[in-house]
Amino acid sequence: MSTGSDLIMSPEQRIPEHVAIVMDGNGRWAERQGKPRTAGHRAGVESVRRVMEVCGEEGVRVLTLFAFSSENWKRPKSEVNLLLDLFLVALNQEIRRIDKRNVRLRVVGDVSAFPHKLQQRIVEAERLTANNDGLLLQIAANYGGRWDITQAARGLARQVQAGKMDADDIDEDSIGRAMCCSDVPDPDLFIRTGGEQRLSNFLLWQSAYAELYFTDVLWPDFHEAEMRAAIDDFAARERRFGLTGAQLESSSC
Ligand code: IPE
Ligand code: IPE
Ligand code: MG
Repeated sequence: MSTGSDLIMSPEQRIPEHVAIVMDGNGRWAERQGKPRTAGHRAGVESVRRVMEVCGEEGVRVLTLFAFSSENWKRPKSEVNLLLDLFLVALNQEIRRIDKRNVRLRVVGDVSAFPHKLQQRIVEAERLTANNDGLLLQIAANYGGRWDITQAARGLARQVQAGKMDADDIDEDSIGRAMCCSDVPDPDLFIRTGGEQRLSNFLLWQSAYAELYFTDVLWPDFHEAEMRAAIDDFAARERRFGLTGAQLESSSC
C-alpha cells in the first residue's frame, strides 16, 4: 500500500506505478454507430491491448482494468452472457500475446460466480504467466469495492473469532492487508473513460489518494495517444497527501 511517505515525485514517480481504469462507454460507442452494444464490448478488447502495451512501454508496474462489476449482473441476461463469453474468448486469444510481452495476469473479484470453464481458464492463464516480471495486468471481474471491504472485514472477524487476533489490533494496515491486491501499491492514477464522473464501486478503499482522471473518450476510442495524455496529466499533478504545498516544497529542498 502507498503510505504517502514518499511525497516528492522524482522523475520516475511521474510515471504512475499503478493505473486503474474504469473502461466505460462500450455500449454508447456501438449505439452511435447503429450497432448492437455487444459490438462495443468486442471493440473494447482492442483498447485493452493498446493500453496494456503503452503501460508496459512507459514503465507502469500495475494496470488494473474494471471489466465487470458486481452490479453488472443486473444487465439483460443476453448482455451478461455475451460479456462472460467474450472474457473467455479474449483470454484464449490474448494470453499468448500477454505472455510474450512478459505480462503477468491476475483476475481480481469473486470469480466463484463464473461458469466453471471460465474459472478454469483464468487459473490456467494466471499459472502460465505467473513467472513473468513485466507489467502486472489485473482484470477486475465480478469485483465491487464494497464486496472487497466486506470480504476483508469477514476475514478479520474470523481471525478474531479463532483467537488469532485481538479486535483492538484492527487498524488501517490490517484492513488494507485483507483487501484485494494488498501486495501491490495503491492506484496512483484512476482513469474513467466514457464521460461519467463517478467511481461505480471500483477500488474504493485502495483509491483513497489516487489522482482522478475523467475523459469523455469512449473506451473503444481510448488508444495509445489517450493513454499517454492521461500519464502526462498525472505527471503535472501535485500530490499532497494532506500536507500543505509549502511543506512539500520545504521537504524537497
Ligand atoms: C463498459 O461499457 C463495459 C462494462 C460495464 C462491462 P458499458 O457497457 O457500460 O457502456 P455504456 O456506459 O453503456 O456506454
Ligand atoms: C462500471 O461501468 C463498470 C465497468 C466498467 C466494468 P458501468 O457502466 O457499469 O457503471 P455505471 O452503471 O454507469 O455507474
Ligand atoms: Mg457504462
